[in-house]
Amino acid sequence: MSYKQTTVWDVDNFEGKSFSEPGIKEAGLWIKRGEVIAFPTETVYGLGADATNDAAVEKIFEAKGRPGDNPLIVHIDDQKQLTELASSVPHLARQLADCFWPGPLTLIVPKKEAVSEKVTAGLSTVAVRMPDHPIARALIKEAEVPVAAPSANRSGRPSPTKAEHVKHDLNGRIAGIVDGGPSGYGLESTVVDCTGEKAWILRPGGITKEQLEDVLGKNQVGISGWEEENQANITTESPKAPGMKYRHYAPEAPLILLNGNKKVILNRIKQEQNKGNKVAVLAVEEHKRDLEHAADTFVSLGSINNLEYIAAQLYDNLRQADRTEADIILCETFSTKGVGLAIMNRLEKAADAYEK
Ligand code: TXA
Ligand code: MG
Repeated sequence: MSYKQTTVWDVDNFEGKSFSEPGIKEAGLWIKRGEVIAFPTETVYGLGADATNDAAVEKIFEAKGRPGDNPLIVHIDDQKQLTELASSVPHLARQLADCFWPGPLTLIVPKKEAVSEKVTAGLSTVAVRMPDHPIARALIKEAEVPVAAPSANRSGRPSPTKAEHVKHDLNGRIAGIVDGGPSGYGLESTVVDCTGEKAWILRPGGITKEQLEDVLGKNQVGISGWEEENQANITTESPKAPGMKYRHYAPEAPLILLNGNKKVILNRIKQEQNKGNKVAVLAVEEHKRDLEHAADTFVSLGSINNLEYIAAQLYDNLRQADRTEADIILCETFSTKGVGLAIMNRLEKAADAYEK
């Protein structure tokens, strides 16, 4: 599918109080008619289509170049819609929805038969999220259907946190973009499987493990996949998000994660430059003074004391490192406490190598 032009509606100052904003009305109508529209959420930009229309859902996969075995999140505007999608709502899911919706949390629940296999990639479960962004909510309301939406990037690229990122990846491949300014958290929602005895985090994100434990209790939350290899007491039976097996969020130049102090990074810069490589370094503001002069490009990730800011800017910074002449990108690593878990998860998925 290609479009002569991708329409952009600029609704940057939308207050969320009225639905009279013409851009949102029109974008909602286009979704209802089976078109694919990018829109801001509080995590990243999503690429939305009518979840009840298979042809529309197929357009999402086509525009992104997304493998068909990677299921989509269905976005809703009202908790009542959860019961229209789920064959039953587990107690865990209800507790988490009550506490964290609207917000950056996606719940995996058993699906109703009517939910299309195109959306769930043939799984017996469906992923559901109620976003906390006035434009996203207004758009879903206007569309009058549940909206299936992955992140609005080409598959494998960093998720978009600004409309210009969407344009860069998908211009001419989708019908329209609602430009609502930068998204908030900057990393995608936490995906939690609620179909078992305890909650399994399939993808860490905006809601932290610690926040989930506060609601459900400490031994009621597990982390699947990515971290389990390092944790002897986690069962290998834990479920997985199909999407987490792919390389993701990656800039075009090779990205190397370096677990070490400034000296390790400095040595590595020299080594690469001796090979004739131009080096971009992604590091915290506190390391700028020592690393900036050595690197060909230095991109500050933000202060080590503000991981929320680092999360919000991460994808933009990865894209920024890509826009330089760098042959290789070196990035420092973080502790996995709180939001650090999601940051490290995304960096590991984006990286070509992790040198510990
Ligand atoms: O913040 C977000 O979640 C953003 C915004 C747009 O809402 N969306 C997003 O979607 O990140 P996407 O498609 O990029 O990631 C969805 C993840 C994938 O890893 C996918 O495999 C997993 O959720 N997923 C979807 N349905 C699933 C299911 N039924 N069971 C297990 N994992 C599922
Ligand atoms: Mg994605």
